[in-house]
Amino acid sequence: MTTFVNLLELEALAKPRLPIAVFDYFAGGAHDEITLGANRHAYDAIALRPRVLVDVSHRDLSTTLLGATLAFPVLVAPMALQRMAHTDGELATARAVTSLKTLLTVSTLSSVTAEDIRAACALAPWFQIYVHQDRALTEAMLARVSACGYGALVLTVDTPVLGRRERDVRNTFQPPPGVAFANMMAGKGAATTGSSDKDSALAMYFAARHDASVTWKDLAWLRRVCPLPLVLKGVMRGDDAKRAADHGVDAVIVSNHGGRQLDTAVPTIRALPEVAEAAGSRMPVLVDGGVRRGTDVLKALALGARAVLVGRPVLWGLALDGEAGVARVLTTLRDELDIAMALCGCASVADIERDLVVT
Ligand code: FNR
Ligand code: LAC
Repeated sequence: MTTFVNLLELEALAKPRLPIAVFDYFAGGAHDEITLGANRHAYDAIALRPRVLVDVSHRDLSTTLLGATLAFPVLVAPMALQRMAHTDGELATARAVTSLKTLLTVSTLSSVTAEDIRAACALAPWFQIYVHQDRALTEAMLARVSACGYGALVLTVDTPVLGRRERDVRNTFQPPPGVAFANMMAGKGAATTGSSDKDSALAMYFAARHDASVTWKDLAWLRRVCPLPLVLKGVMRGDDAKRAADHGVDAVIVSNHGGRQLDTAVPTIRALPEVAEAAGSRMPVLVDGGVRRGTDVLKALALGARAVLVGRPVLWGLALDGEAGVARVLTTLRDELDIAMALCGCASVADIERDLVVT
């Protein structure tokens, strides 16, 4: 097993393990990758104001989220096609998440079926949905997800169309042979992204199949066909958060898709305060994008998040060492959060308050 000390060094360690087109698909962002970098750097620009002489001899990192108890406030973000990183793919991620007692979010475009991933999890995972133009196919997928015991439905709202990832265009990205969209095997003609010598196959898939017409009005339809708690992923403004709460949404995730969609979008940690303020006590707010340090998690909680999601480092851990690699990524982040809490005078996540940060 390749050893690593922190999450920031993982990308370089994983790179030689992956075909370059897969590495670029995982690592890349839209256009100039401004938001991709800014998500991370925005955390560095926030300073901490530690509180001293607090009894931190016993620390409790656990939190609750939509009725579930997590050992620490870090979930795994939904990410497509994880078998490109390791043959066990999403199953390895699910097992690592389960061993660490936290939550997995499963992508519509997973490379293992939703049922098999569910079976590998203890806590009911969340399912991320991309609404396809073929509503019957979408409804069939939602019926399967409800039937096999997922805990929440996550509608990704920052992707009416796929952002242009120039690395993928240059590489004419397509999944390697044997890796496909497992949830769509039974659907008509949707098992793979197809191939193209002109563009990213994923971009072509989205252009051909994804429904860019989805609006607030469709939330009622989603709720009808899938009675799970509903989470919106990709809310970046206070007014949209208020609208989500008014529509009875159960939680929102502040996200710009890890800089893969709208380039030059505001870094998520800077968008978080207005979303958290608009949500108030009506629904929990989560955030993702660029979370790589325990202090990042603490800053996100101080600025109003109930929990964070981590994306790419999980793929790097998976590429390096499957389940054990993902477990190590999550343990590293957890242990860094534990130290950050102790050094800030916080014995529990409830002690992480706004006055700990200077923005
Ligand atoms: C993603 N993300 C994503 N989001 C989503 O809603 N559905 C999906 O299928 C995917 N797929 C996906 C694949 C890859 C390779 C990456 C890197 C990301 C976005 C993801 O859930 C999350 O928002 C970001 O990855 C978080 O940023 P960091 O932690 O990667 O910086
Ligand atoms: C991505 C899509 C699949 O970011 O969400 O690649």
